[in-house]
Amino acid sequence: MADFVKVADLAEVPPGEITLVDFQGDEVALANVNGTIYAFSDTCTHMAGRLSQGLLDGAIVTCPFHGGQFDVTSGEAVAAPPTEKLTTYRVQVNDGGEIQISSA
Ligand code: FES
Repeated sequence: MADFVKVADLAEVPPGEITLVDFQGDEVALANVNGTIYAFSDTCTHMAGRLSQGLLDGAIVTCPFHGGQFDVTSGEAVAAPPTEKLTTYRVQVNDGGEIQISSA
């Protein structure tokens, strides 16, 4: 299993917001859904829209390009045009409020 790496502080990802971070060269979006952090690829599987620039409503992010939607808790595409799921990452938040993610 890959190690967890700090990518942000919890204060940088307020509830209802998405924050873009770098994870080992990959652009990863962090979403705060009612206090729980989820991490997923920032790149829409349709035509590479930037999901960190999209709208987060509950656990659903809407792509700013063509309105495709994904469930950030699973990465599954839930509204067309995208059909492929997003890459997701494991997340942990330590006692110091550091958000750490792992690819495996
Ligand atoms: S690029 Fe995201 S819906 Fe088209």
